[in-house]
Amino acid sequence: MQKLWGGRFTKSTDSFTDHFHSSIGFDSRMYREDITGSIAHATMLGKQGIIPQADADLIVQTLGEILSDIDAGTISFDEKAEDIHMNIETILISRIGDVGKKLHTGRSRNDQVALDTRMYTKKELTEIKALLKNLMTTLNTLAARHTETILPGYTHLQRAQPVTLAHHLLAYIEMFKRDYDRLCDTYKRTDVLPLGSGALATTTYPLDRQFVAEQLGFSSISANSMDGVSDRDFCVETASTLSILMMHLSRFCEEIILWSSHEFHFIELDDAYSTGSSIMPQKKNPDMAELIRGKTGRVYGHLMGLLTTLKGLPLAYNKDMQEDKEALFDAIDTVKMCLPVFTNMIATMTVQPDVMLQAAKGGFTNATDAADWLVKQGVPFRDAHGIIGRLVLYCIEHHTNLDDLSLEEYQAISPVFNESVYDAIGVKQCVEARNVIGGPSKAMTTKAIEDNNAYLKKL
Ligand code: ARG
Repeated sequence: MQKLWGGRFTKSTDSFTDHFHSSIGFDSRMYREDITGSIAHATMLGKQGIIPQADADLIVQTLGEILSDIDAGTISFDEKAEDIHMNIETILISRIGDVGKKLHTGRSRNDQVALDTRMYTKKELTEIKALLKNLMTTLNTLAARHTETILPGYTHLQRAQPVTLAHHLLAYIEMFKRDYDRLCDTYKRTDVLPLGSGALATTTYPLDRQFVAEQLGFSSISANSMDGVSDRDFCVETASTLSILMMHLSRFCEEIILWSSHEFHFIELDDAYSTGSSIMPQKKNPDMAELIRGKTGRVYGHLMGLLTTLKGLPLAYNKDMQEDKEALFDAIDTVKMCLPVFTNMIATMTVQPDVMLQAAKGGFTNATDAADWLVKQGVPFRDAHGIIGRLVLYCIEHHTNLDDLSLEEYQAISPVFNESVYDAIGVKQCVEARNVIGGPSKAMTTKAIEDNNAYLKKL
């Protein structure tokens, strides 16, 4: 097969070389973007009189037919034609001969691949945003059902202060809102048209880049052709944004794994989102959560791979850049699989409010409130901290807790105590008293859930 670039060569490439440098195995998924971009380019060439209008029309029509044929699965690509760009061009030339050879006028594969990859990334970012919105909606709905479901909040994985499940879920919604913002921001910088940059220094033809940008729905045009062909920041940014999103999913999964263990038993995962053991009949494992946690490492790996591929590249295009696609695609594919699985896993799990409440009542999660009660009686906070610390020690030694101590036991440690301390340290009171903006009280979480609903409606 004669290569499209074969003119200055006297020998054909080694067949293993063909295999080695071909990217059709992974960039064929950009066929729609490649053809759509070529249609816009050919339309512009005709409009500008760079090629005859009739030729442009034939190219556009034939590209449309090729697209339908690929969609219908009647076309197979050839590794020897290297990549999706030259495969499509080769098919075009095989169908309309010399006219097809005019498509690549004023264009290089360097600006073409940058265009296709940006178009593909824009589409995927939009899909990921929809999946993330879905997850946030699911979490917010669940939060609305659990504004009074009390569980311990932890620091150092030691019981710290009581919170509600709504409050806990709302914390994750905040993370996902930031992820959503980052996706929008990444989209902005991906939404720049590189076509017209040529190989690196634009072209001598009177291209109308503004027209192409409008045809393809780009909101801006690359301002420097050397940057236009070699900028892969949008790939790195996508991988980075997705890494942070996966980090959030992974942290949540870690909690789901802990919470579904017998030791916690705060939740029970639905059978549809758990698996069994091939040897231990009793097992019900949180494999989905573990896999998402595991796949997080894979997405981080792609971010590091992309950064490392790009770090030593001189301007402008270098073939190293072909390595961007598998990393980018796999990061995107992974997130697109994880998000719906995670969303459904959360939507179908059973919450065990009684177990959560029992856990919140143990572990002295009301100790801060007992200290705060003393402060309200005029005891300086540091002294109050010391008094309650001694009471906790007393409780540990006597296998009891603050709620069950008698007033005499309290007063033996500090005469300031009176009956009203019991009201202040009830677990529900501990939650309700935290009525500061961002706090777990029912009033605050209800307000946060309403705000989230308004936010989600606008997305
Ligand atoms: N398959 C190539 C890539 O993914 C397309 C650009 C090739 N450009 C070139 N000058 N060899 O980067």
